[in-house]
Amino acid sequence: MRHIHIVGIGTGNPEHLTVQAINALNAANVILVPSKGAAKTELADVRRDICQRYITNKTIRFVDYDVPSRQIADRSYVQSVDDWHEEISATYERLFLEHLAEDESAAFLVWGDPGLYDSTLRIIERVTARGKVPLDYSIIPGITSIQALTASHRIPLNLVGKPVQITTGRRLAESFPGIAETAVVMLDGEQAFSKIVDPDAYIYWGAYLGTKDEIIIAGRLADVSERILATRAQARAEHGWIMDIYLLRKGQDFDDRA
Ligand SMILES: C[S@@+](CC[C@H](N)C(=O)[O-])C[C@H]1O[C@@H](n2cnc3c(N)ncnc32)[C@H](O)[C@@H]1O
Repeated sequence: MRHIHIVGIGTGNPEHLTVQAINALNAANVILVPSKGAAKTELADVRRDICQRYITNKTIRFVDYDVPSRQIADRSYVQSVDDWHEEISATYERLFLEHLAEDESAAFLVWGDPGLYDSTLRIIERVTARGKVPLDYSIIPGITSIQALTASHRIPLNLVGKPVQITTGRRLAESFPGIAETAVVMLDGEQAFSKIVDPDAYIYWGAYLGTKDEIIIAGRLADVSERILATRAQARAEHGWIMDIYLLRKGQDFDDRA
């Protein structure tokens, strides 16, 4: 049966790769490499660097493929993602049939960890559900952008004994402040932090984490919000793209001690 390794590669620093990930890559017959458009060539460079550094098995074949883009016209967000996943799963099915013999394995290099805001696993599950290409799969965990963020700021993710919420920019307004003392916000194209009015909140922001272009800013939200907006806009203009994440925090350790 064909086997698919879904390998977490960390978030920009080739040294994020685990020994388990390196071994899984070298065990594959085929590495599947997505082409994602010129704007994100730096991300492609990170993947290439990882392959050059760590893949010692010279028999491995590299297969490039085009990732279909998500269509948004005339459909809800959920419908658009569902359609998109269906289309990608058809692409995967074709790739497996064309490039993998029945007893061979392939690896996907997944940004960060495959379990965090990534759909590779869901799409592989669609392929198996269709039953046209019998396959097995395994997941190799990777360093997430959350871990890269807290490490660069030298902060713990959670306050002592307190929960953490992981959310998106679109959802932030619904859930902060109030439910969680710590919220981590990803996939925020609208800079939702700048709409929060909360004098007690702190923000720990990071962009291009793990790469040579990493930028971090931290402080009271009211004091640094404008600086983050300006820095973000300038960096985005320079690179042509940006990936950023932030942690919002209210309160401190032990501040609810009776
Ligand atoms: C589609 S999600 C993928 C998350 C990834 N699987 C992980 O484990 O971090 C993309 C979002 O992750 C965050 N992200 C990923 N890599 C990042 C990096 N190097 N620097 C800052 N944020 C990053 C951003 O919020 C971005 O919008």
